[in-house]
Amino acid sequence: MNAHGVMERKSHRAKVIAVANQKGGVGKTTTTVTLAAALTRLGKQVLVMDLDPHACASVHLRYYPDELQYSVNDIFSETPGDSETLWDTIRQHHPVQEFDVVSANIRLAELEVDLRNRKGKGAILQQSLEHVRGEYDFILLDCPPHVGILLVNALVASDLLVVPIQTDFLALHGLKLLFDTIKVLNKVLPVPICYRVLPTLYDKRARACARVMELLALKMKDSMFKTVIGMDTRFRDASAQGRVIYEISPDSRGAREYEELAKEILAL
Ligand SMILES: Nc1ncnc2c1ncn2[C@@H]1O[C@H](COP(=O)(O)OP(=O)(O)OP(=O)(O)O)[C@@H](O)[C@H]1O
Ligand SMILES: [Mg+2]
Repeated sequence: MNAHGVMERKSHRAKVIAVANQKGGVGKTTTTVTLAAALTRLGKQVLVMDLDPHACASVHLRYYPDELQYSVNDIFSETPGDSETLWDTIRQHHPVQEFDVVSANIRLAELEVDLRNRKGKGAILQQSLEHVRGEYDFILLDCPPHVGILLVNALVASDLLVVPIQTDFLALHGLKLLFDTIKVLNKVLPVPICYRVLPTLYDKRARACARVMELLALKMKDSMFKTVIGMDTRFRDASAQGRVIYEISPDSRGAREYEELAKEILAL
């Protein structure tokens, strides 16, 4: 363990998973945090990184930006060569969940301007992650609800993009922007971005939800997870308490569905 209680392990090659959709409130943060816990429960070494200036994943896990000296911001503002020590300062080992966390900070919102003239600004995260990929099985990136330099860094760094989509008609509407970004990046990336859509907030009693599922299946074909995340009020209860659903209701439907998702990801 280092000074922050972060486990030191070398022998893995982490799969980097970005959880993104520029639409707000579709379950990105819930997916990142719960999937991280589910993978950890399956014995995997996991790092959670909060890339949203609003720091919802950090706060959900009870890391409060005002109380932290270091954050994911430091990756983008560091001088080259500092990376090894940098990772030791920005990572925290979660006391309950047994995964590591890199918190966010509102200053991330200024990156667009700060990095304006920086060469290779879309690959900063990818390069920095090379220092820690050997220590984890999975690195999960919680992305902000907009298209910009943070999303580009997450997509460039990722091996898999998980797109939570609320099973709601309006949710399908906003997807074009995300897929346009993927198309642009695919022109310059050595390997096209691999993505899977995750239906979320599914209400089995609502006929509209079932119709959206049919449309999604038609549109996304094999790029859709088999797992569907239903509505479960326990997620709200968990985040309000700064806990993960497995801590308050491990047998709830929501808990089991994210466990299914974790198993599906392990089998990819
Ligand atoms: N399956 C679910 N059932 C019920 N409530 C859920 C579910 N998933 C997420 N929620 C709740 O919906 C709200 C939005 O979820 P979340 O914060 O994960 O979305 P987000 O996409 O990260 O939002 P933002 O775009 O603002 O970052 C939260 O209050 C969360 O607890
Ligand atoms: Mg979020």
